[in-house]
Amino acid sequence: MDPRSEVLLRQAELFQGSLLLTGLPADDLLGTLPNARGWSWHAGDFAALDTRFSGRTHFGTEAPKEDFEAAVLFLPKAKDLTDYLLNALASRLQGRELFLVGEKRAGIEAAARQLSPFGRARKLDSARHCQLWQVTVQSAPQTVELNSLAKHFEIDLQGGALKIVSLPGVFSHGRLDRGSALLLDNLDRLPTGHLLDFGCGAGVLGAAVKRRNPDMKVTMLDVDAFATASSRLTLTANGLEADVLTGDGIDAAPEHLDVILTNPPFHTGVHTDYAATENLLRKAREHLKKGGELRLVANSFLRYQPIIEQHLGVCAVMAEGNGFRIYRAKRG
Ligand SMILES: C[S@@+](CC[C@H](N)C(=O)[O-])C[C@H]1O[C@@H](n2cnc3c(N)ncnc32)[C@H](O)[C@@H]1O
Repeated sequence: MDPRSEVLLRQAELFQGSLLLTGLPADDLLGTLPNARGWSWHAGDFAALDTRFSGRTHFGTEAPKEDFEAAVLFLPKAKDLTDYLLNALASRLQGRELFLVGEKRAGIEAAARQLSPFGRARKLDSARHCQLWQVTVQSAPQTVELNSLAKHFEIDLQGGALKIVSLPGVFSHGRLDRGSALLLDNLDRLPTGHLLDFGCGAGVLGAAVKRRNPDMKVTMLDVDAFATASSRLTLTANGLEADVLTGDGIDAAPEHLDVILTNPPFHTGVHTDYAATENLLRKAREHLKKGGELRLVANSFLRYQPIIEQHLGVCAVMAEGNGFRIYRAKRG
């Protein structure tokens, strides 16, 4: 059981009514709280929860339509995503209870201040390196539209500026990441055909490729529904078309690809997690055509080259700068 769930269960009597567990971990909590439902935007967690507790978890960037009498938010990493989610929940909870739970190292103490617009927040418990906070919503806010919270920026590309639209919680929200920038400078000699932008975030890489090569088929994939919603907004803002998939890891990607282009994930929440990237490197071969190419940017300290060579083929460092490296490997 996730430590945050354990902290909730120390006060289980508070959570027996109709409860919305928002951003919940994929653990046993729904099995323990029979009247609770979940809301997730992480395709992997959602799939795991839905397999075990069929129909009890809602997936997407918007709160479920069904009523709930109280809600718990599991503190996400980004402050502006926390704001969006607290607003979405508090706007539905006039006179009712809103709880916030999170790990100390994730900043729960500071995040609890984000409850203050709704009423006087109280710390209910502190255990397992986590804290549980509660507020009775005295002044329910108006619902804020998710798209109104988008940040917009532009990237200079040959052929004109590319507009990027990023939603709260999306990687490198509101600015171009330095690793992604290096990859954008190294898009020459890409094979044509079908390209996968793995871990597309706000859609920077896939949209740039589609702009440069309108005849290429581009598929964008991310595990996070806020990321894929951003990628769709980015495509629309530039009048571009691509397939956008919300799914967990390379297993959710199409096969017979000509290119996998990626700035792959290496953090999940506050925990370092290379699993999705290692799985990508191990299985890229199954998703690439013979002669297809993996082109990837990573922090120079990450030792990806031997893993790529073991599973795919000869891996060259194509460029290096600002602490990042561009790797390039073809399926032999
Ligand atoms: C380093 S960011 C890159 C985002 C974007 N491509 C860019 O260059 O700005 C990595 C992305 O991988 C996504 N991601 C993390 N785990 C994933 C998984 N299991 N499957 C697919 N995408 C994942 C994250 O949500 C994040 O958007």
